[in-house]
Amino acid sequence: MSLRIAIVGGSGYTGVELLRILKGHTGVRVTCVTSRKFAGTGVASIFPSLHGYNDLLFSEPDLEGIAKKSDFVFTAVPHQAAMGIVPWFLEHGLKVVDLSADFRLRDAKVYESWYQPHSHPELLPQAVYGLPELYRSEIISSRLVANPGCYPTSAILPLVPLLKEAVIDWDGIVIDSKSGASGAGRSASMATIFCEVNEGFKAYKVGEHRHTPEIEQELSMASGKEVKISFTPHLVPMSRGILTTIYARLTSKISTADAISILSQYYDDEMFVRVMKEGVFPNVSFVRGGNCCDIAARVDERTERIILVSAIDNLVKGASGQAVQNMNLMAGFDEGQGLKRAAIFP
Ligand SMILES: NC(=O)c1ccc[n+]([C@@H]2O[C@H](COP(=O)([O-])OP(=O)(O)OC[C@H]3O[C@@H](n4cnc5c(N)ncnc54)[C@H](OP(=O)(O)O)[C@@H]3O)[C@@H](O)[C@H]2O)c1
Repeated sequence: MSLRIAIVGGSGYTGVELLRILKGHTGVRVTCVTSRKFAGTGVASIFPSLHGYNDLLFSEPDLEGIAKKSDFVFTAVPHQAAMGIVPWFLEHGLKVVDLSADFRLRDAKVYESWYQPHSHPELLPQAVYGLPELYRSEIISSRLVANPGCYPTSAILPLVPLLKEAVIDWDGIVIDSKSGASGAGRSASMATIFCEVNEGFKAYKVGEHRHTPEIEQELSMASGKEVKISFTPHLVPMSRGILTTIYARLTSKISTADAISILSQYYDDEMFVRVMKEGVFPNVSFVRGGNCCDIAARVDERTERIILVSAIDNLVKGASGQAVQNMNLMAGFDEGQGLKRAAIFP
């Protein structure tokens, strides 16, 4: 019998990506997909890109109705909206992967200083940070997984092995990321309309992006120190993809080959992290539509720094692909079910 899935917030960019990925998953059936705006309308008529959802209609996010029809819920709604519904699903015995930021930060005070008051801080200790490469065993036994942010996924995966091995300095890390416009979601805003994004390239939320504490939390866990980072996101004129470049000081003389060897020790057995050979650097074109995070390292002996470069698709490894990877672990499926397809190139 297949696992019955509900997607709350199914008309957004991460929602449509969940629908696309889950269509290729043989163990699940999407039984409920919500949108207040499109309630009563066919999913396939709003997203003609989706094949095979001909009979499924968007419905109102009615919690009782969702619980009757499903065993597992993806909440793909904005932060604050998620904390209003996730506790109800847990109380009624459903497992949840939440794609918002509401359960990612372990410390409610940190959450409140970057977002707004948290209505359910008691759930934060139960929530597992859903980066399978770091927390696989906790995810398997969890009822609530907080799916990581897109920028954090691209920054944490390259940095954690090098911090754990203490070959880079925990202090003074600089993270520079570029993202496509789908990172901001599907609701129209002036900053993401065509003329504002096309042929432009800008930094935004400089020194104040809300993914900063999430990255700091995980880097602090890895290093055992209170890590503070400089993080600057940029918006580039593409639909999807994140390219992140990271600069960190070395603590000892290591070569590029040594750094690649450390990353490989952590990730060679991972299905969705690819460590590049020396001299090869990631490109968002080679992860688009796929669930991989590509990582490259280069030691700059002249400045005694390491430069790490990573690429992900923000909607796949940065959101819905990782969410399905987490669901697979929580529900006892093969971790790569529905996710093994190659990226779309060109
Ligand atoms: N886009 C990315 O690259 C990305 C990456 C990682 C994580 N995330 C996170 O994933 C979540 C969804 O992002 P998105 O980009 O898919 O956003 P989006 O395109 O703006 O879609 C939001 C969805 O949530 C629904 N919704 C909004 N407010 C709601 C409410 N109060 N109650 C119930 N449903 C509500 C919307 O439909 P209706 O308004 O019609 O109900 C829509 O289906 C966000 O928390 C975001 O931060 C996004």
